[in-house]
Amino acid sequence: MIITVINQKGGVGKTTTAVNLAYGLSKQMNVGLLDMDPEGGTSFSFGIRRDKREFPLGGKSINIFNIEVFPAHLGLLKLEIGGEVEDVMKSIVKIAESFDVLVIDTPPNLGTLAVASMVAADKILSPVTPQPLAIEAVRNLDSRLQSLNKKAVAFTSMSKKPIDVELKAVKFLQLSIPQSRLFSEASKLGVPVSRYEEIRLRRPRIEKLYEELGKVILSE
Ligand SMILES: Nc1ncnc2c1ncn2[C@@H]1O[C@H](COP(=O)(O)OP(=O)(O)OP(=O)(O)O)[C@@H](O)[C@H]1O
Ligand SMILES: [Mg+2]
Repeated sequence: MIITVINQKGGVGKTTTAVNLAYGLSKQMNVGLLDMDPEGGTSFSFGIRRDKREFPLGGKSINIFNIEVFPAHLGLLKLEIGGEVEDVMKSIVKIAESFDVLVIDTPPNLGTLAVASMVAADKILSPVTPQPLAIEAVRNLDSRLQSLNKKAVAFTSMSKKPIDVELKAVKFLQLSIPQSRLFSEASKLGVPVSRYEEIRLRRPRIEKLYEELGKVILSE
């Protein structure tokens, strides 16, 4: 199964979602985490620098916290500029064959890499922050999904109050991930916030929300 995390707006929590969703799911499943953002957000979240070498898609991976992480590398930029959606999609499907779930983090645009990741996906998940520009972005995503004949679920990111917007191809969950300073603390240490909570707190709260998100997306 392929779960693609997408929103063409920057900084809404895609990478954070992909990383913590993968972390939660990896407790019960064999999980891969594919960084499709040439900027390497997911890789950076695990303290991995973007590789300056070029690999084929899925050509390099590292096991961290029981997740097989495919870090960003120079080859992604070349695919973004010169790759074909169909070819990239087929490569993604091939990588996913080795896992129960492959979670994909995408760049903040709807270019070749993001569209191929959506086309390949069994489930599409979109974090949306409650700002006019982010909501406008999810409206555009909705039209794009309709033209691709795909559906997505969205949740509210970085706010307690769930966003309530009616769209055709995007269904808003009642779930929201609140803002917390734990995210930046975890990020400085290069660990998922769920992992950080496990170490720091007796009762992880954010981790539970990501686990719930995992359950909901698998059942959608
Ligand atoms: N719930 C939250 N509370 C506080 N900070 C958060 C929360 N979720 C994410 N962040 C922080 O917000 C910043 C942006 O998040 P993230 O990198 O996941 O967004 P993104 O959509 O992947 O961005 P980009 O489009 O640039 O790839 C990061 O510094 C992250 O640690
Ligand atoms: Mg990112």
